[in-house]
Amino acid sequence: DFGTMIYDPGYYNTAVCKSQITYIDGDRGILEYRGYPIEHLAENSSFLEVAYLLIYGDLPNMEQLNLWNTKIMNHTFIHENLIQLMKSFRYDAHPMGMLISSVSAMSTFYPEANPALAGVDIYKNKQLMNKQIFRILGKLPTIAACAYRHRIGRPYNNPINSLSYTENFLYMLDRLSESNYKPHPTLTRALDKLFIIHADHELNCSTATMRQISSTLVDPYTAVAGSAGALYGPLHGGATEAVLRMLEQIGSVENIPAFLEEVKQKKKKLMGFGHRVYKSYDPRAKILKSVTQEIFNLLGKNPLMVIATELERLALSDSYFINRQLYPNVDFYSGIIYKSMGFPTDMFPVLFSIPRAAGWLAHWVENISDPELRIFRPRQIYLGRRGMTYVPLENRN
Ligand code: SDX
Repeated sequence: DFGTMIYDPGYYNTAVCKSQITYIDGDRGILEYRGYPIEHLAENSSFLEVAYLLIYGDLPNMEQLNLWNTKIMNHTFIHENLIQLMKSFRYDAHPMGMLISSVSAMSTFYPEANPALAGVDIYKNKQLMNKQIFRILGKLPTIAACAYRHRIGRPYNNPINSLSYTENFLYMLDRLSESNYKPHPTLTRALDKLFIIHADHELNCSTATMRQISSTLVDPYTAVAGSAGALYGPLHGGATEAVLRMLEQIGSVENIPAFLEEVKQKKKKLMGFGHRVYKSYDPRAKILKSVTQEIFNLLGKNPLMVIATELERLALSDSYFINRQLYPNVDFYSGIIYKSMGFPTDMFPVLFSIPRAAGWLAHWVENISDPELRIFRPRQIYLGRRGMTYVPLENRN
């Protein structure tokens, strides 16, 4: 019964859910997708291959991978009506708000895939369900690129399906896409690694949202939009943006000790540190640290990296953080890489959403495939009053 939220009052704000997708050992800093260590996947795989692994349960063979790539890259164009919707947003609309609204709007585009219109039997049609997966994974980078072009006041670029998934995304973002621009392979590979390590992470807040919202059998576009809404929060996917702002506010290595004192006095949070599950170094942060070097070799060192490295060194030599098992998490270095690649900070949660959609969809498939699936309905611990007597308004003080 993978779909049922088992509720254990012993841990009153903790609920568990069974899954075969991602394994984490927070104490030993282990992360595996379908049993494959994240380090091996980041080094050897591609994001689309990892998306296939997460959704369908194992690595594809050559024929399966080629078909998977073709199917997704043939679904990169978005409907003209959706482009008009995106163009109706304010010139300075937050790209993540545009992404969430646009993905949600997609639920109105495909009535054949909407159980509210076509009935829940559509979930027995695997071909139809796969088509929604192709559409969401194929169109998300295009929506993300349109949101970016919108905020810089430039015309939207059409996808080039002959490029790879991340190459095409970088191509659609670029100001000069009208020329025969081709992204630098180092940047394409770095972005692919970033997408791989952001693809899934067990029952994080946004994926728990997916499990919860999809248990109602709502359409996958609405479910993905709801999950992205959870990721938008500053304590979750918004943390990358918060890390950059924190490093920019610290401003120099000399200011780090005073900043850490404010954190210890609980006046500020050390963004990019700490994790609900990892009580050791987040394995993804280790991988990202090596990716920063590849980027700096190409683009030159980002001054924020100097602050980040010293901030990490001082925090990890301070008992306040060690005693609270606070280590760098995936967001600590990802923002520096994205900033070095030229992304504005408000694009960071969008860059998190694209790969995490593969994880959300894997959990969506696992949920709706469970014959024992029941709607999530967690219980509460009631701490309020009981047995009150109504007091007429004129008698209230
Ligand atoms: C992601 O769930 C996932 O897997 C998420 C994610 C994914 O891939 O989906 O990994 C992505 O969201 C990573 C986390 C990104 N968020 C941040 O970096 C924001 C900063 N981090 C914190 O807000 C915090 O660490 C959380 C929310 C991530 C985890 O919080 P917990 O586990 O609830 O920690 P806690 O509140 O139990 O903290 C224990 C102690 C407390 O101090 P005391 O009350 O014991 O004195 O540690 C302190 C907290 O105040 N603490 C921090 C801190 N995080 C916890 N103090 C300063 N800075 C921090 N960042």
